[in-house]
Amino acid sequence: MSSVTSAPGRAEVEARTLRSDRWWVSPAVTFGVLFLFVVYATWRAFEDRHYFAEPYLSPFYSPCLATSCAPGSSDFGAAAGDWWRLSPALLILVFPLGFRLTCYYYRKAYYRAFWLSPPACAVAEPHRRYSGETRFPLVLQNAHRYFFYAALVFNVILTWDAILGFRNEDGEWGHMGLGTVVLLANAALLTVYTLSCHSCRHVVGGRLKHFSRHPVRYRLWTYVSRLNARHMLFAWLSLFSVAIADLYVRLLATDMFSDPRFF
Ligand code: FES
Repeated sequence: MSSVTSAPGRAEVEARTLRSDRWWVSPAVTFGVLFLFVVYATWRAFEDRHYFAEPYLSPFYSPCLATSCAPGSSDFGAAAGDWWRLSPALLILVFPLGFRLTCYYYRKAYYRAFWLSPPACAVAEPHRRYSGETRFPLVLQNAHRYFFYAALVFNVILTWDAILGFRNEDGEWGHMGLGTVVLLANAALLTVYTLSCHSCRHVVGGRLKHFSRHPVRYRLWTYVSRLNARHMLFAWLSLFSVAIADLYVRLLATDMFSDPRFF
């Protein structure tokens, strides 16, 4: 009997799968949502306008580091100067993008949904060879731990952006609008997503032989482990929140919506 895949070590089963449930729903939904996000994020990153509606800055453009940034949007200075002629989003997106692209959860999600490797548990994949993540380019997935450190910095920046949302258009403090809530929620979800990262769990509690000798790290590890159990949930929520925050700023910047002010 010949198997659907001829890879060594695979079970000799003729059928592509013996599963009778709707196993394809999850990878199909994952494919659709991630595809839409990639299309939207790419369009917005290249659009190079409508990313700042005083006092709100889109997370896709934060920090805005080029002199071409919209006036008032460079709270961390224009370190890139005026030699950068492309969209300022392209200067910084490698960090949040790299973090998400190399995320252990997203790897599982897009290997299944886009590469069908395999599309689901107990469903044969169409590929004949499998080298895992031991060769270029997938060996670069090991850079995830470094993107994790960058993500921590970005979380601080986006939290600061959200705090700036307590100002009004004239820069006076003590105001709050729906945009403040949107940016705060996004910063919080991104922070929880980062803290629930597998690399974070390893940084906090890994390489220890005796937890009893490291009570503080042990305590932190238990907190991170609790978050880690919901990492997939935080991955999706923060993906939606970052797109919603950007869209909200764009609606304000194009005068398609006016920010409701609470005080
Ligand atoms: Fe998903 Fe690190 S494992 S962000």
